[in-house]
Amino acid sequence: MNRSLQGLTYFVRTFGCQMNSHDSERVVGMLENLGMIMGDQETADIVVFMTCAVREAADTRLFGQVASMKNLPAPMGGKRIIALGGCIGQRDGDYLFDKLDNLNVVFGTHTIEDLPSLIEEAYETDKKVSSLADRAATPSTDLPIKRENNFHAWVPITMGCDNYCTYCIVPYVRGHEYSREFNQVVAEVELLASQGVKEVTLLGQNVNSYGRDLYGKPKFAELLRAMDDTGIKRVRFTSSHPKDLSDETIKAFAESKTVMPHLHLAVQSGSDRILKAMNRKYSAAHYLERIGKVRELVPQVALSTDIIVGFPGETEEDFQQTLDLAKKANFAQAFTFIYSKRAGTPAAKMIDDTPREVIQERFDGLVELIQTSAYANNKIEEGKTLDVLIEGSSKRDDTILTGRSPRNSTVHIKLAEGRSVEDYIGKIVQVKIELAKTWYLKGNLV
Ligand code: SAM
Ligand code: SF4
Ligand code: F3S
Repeated sequence: MNRSLQGLTYFVRTFGCQMNSHDSERVVGMLENLGMIMGDQETADIVVFMTCAVREAADTRLFGQVASMKNLPAPMGGKRIIALGGCIGQRDGDYLFDKLDNLNVVFGTHTIEDLPSLIEEAYETDKKVSSLADRAATPSTDLPIKRENNFHAWVPITMGCDNYCTYCIVPYVRGHEYSREFNQVVAEVELLASQGVKEVTLLGQNVNSYGRDLYGKPKFAELLRAMDDTGIKRVRFTSSHPKDLSDETIKAFAESKTVMPHLHLAVQSGSDRILKAMNRKYSAAHYLERIGKVRELVPQVALSTDIIVGFPGETEEDFQQTLDLAKKANFAQAFTFIYSKRAGTPAAKMIDDTPREVIQERFDGLVELIQTSAYANNKIEEGKTLDVLIEGSSKRDDTILTGRSPRNSTVHIKLAEGRSVEDYIGKIVQVKIELAKTWYLKGNLV
């Protein structure tokens, strides 16, 4: 163990997707292995930013946050080390030292395992140090881990992405897609179940193509089927790509006892012209056909999606086709994004002249439509008794438990007098649903 860092405090701030959340758990695992103790952003000796490059807003926020740390008093140890990792670290590398003069360490998505030695060197020598590589020497899944909680675990099954959607930075910052071995994933889920974890989320940018690089053909359906024998109570997975969602996978999804009836299937647009320009490799009709098949085999399924508004060249007619598809799809949830130009991607070179106000107006219209279908999706749960995994208490009121239903709705439950949140955290309880709201359900413990 490195003695110079022992007893120092750390704080990890995470931006972006579940992949980063998972990587942050590895970072925390490594820092605690060095004998460091969790602190807070203002006073910690070591502050690590795990960054996201997917949209400009995340970039800007990050730069603001790191720069503003200059105004804070020095921590108790006398010295503050700021480290920046994740997707912006991978994208910008040492150039970040020019942009942020209070930054001490830069690392990328493939060099997480170097963080302890980088921090040590920066702390002892006051030098600015970095480690960057195009491909991981050690898959981050082999590193120590400290999970956000004891009842849920992220389980990466593929890393990177080979789809090159024309707007997206992810393939450039996460590298080529590669899968973890089937037996290794199953063994990890078995181990997690034996440790008391209730729910796992299988992670990948396109989980449907899981195994193609290792076994010559995708093995995602088999992986889903294998989950039933691991002892885990609940399985979720994200993200699915419509071009690779096979009949075999839909069947496995339908027949599994542990896989929850929620499918996240990003559509991005309802216009074939725009889908082609995005390099998504499917049509709106294909998307609707696939979700039709899912609903036929899993009638209770809740569908969620990602939609980009204002992709270069999107016309009013293209946007109306997106609205039309969203109406037909009846999404329970949609992550809606205004297109953000990312340097180095093919879309960054496309003509992008739709006025900002027009895009904002389209965006607002879409959000309104999604609110309607989200409410309709929750409404059908009223009167039912659902199994809810309790995750904690409401941020605003600690006498209200919050949890997740099988269809992935947030559920709020009033605590009985004399009981505490700790009595329930991580447990799956039965809840009678009394009231549906757009973004949550209200119910009582049975
Ligand atoms: N691999 C996942 C998939 O294809 O479903 C998506 C992962 S990406 C990190 C999450 C979402 O961010 C995408 O589905 C897309 O809607 C959105 N996104 C990616 N690049 C974007 C950009 N340049 N502007 C706006 N939204 C973007
Ligand atoms: Fe980005 Fe497309 Fe890969 Fe998803 S599938 S991460 S949107 S390139
Ligand atoms: Fe962002 Fe990187 Fe995820 S760019 S969305 S943190 S893969």
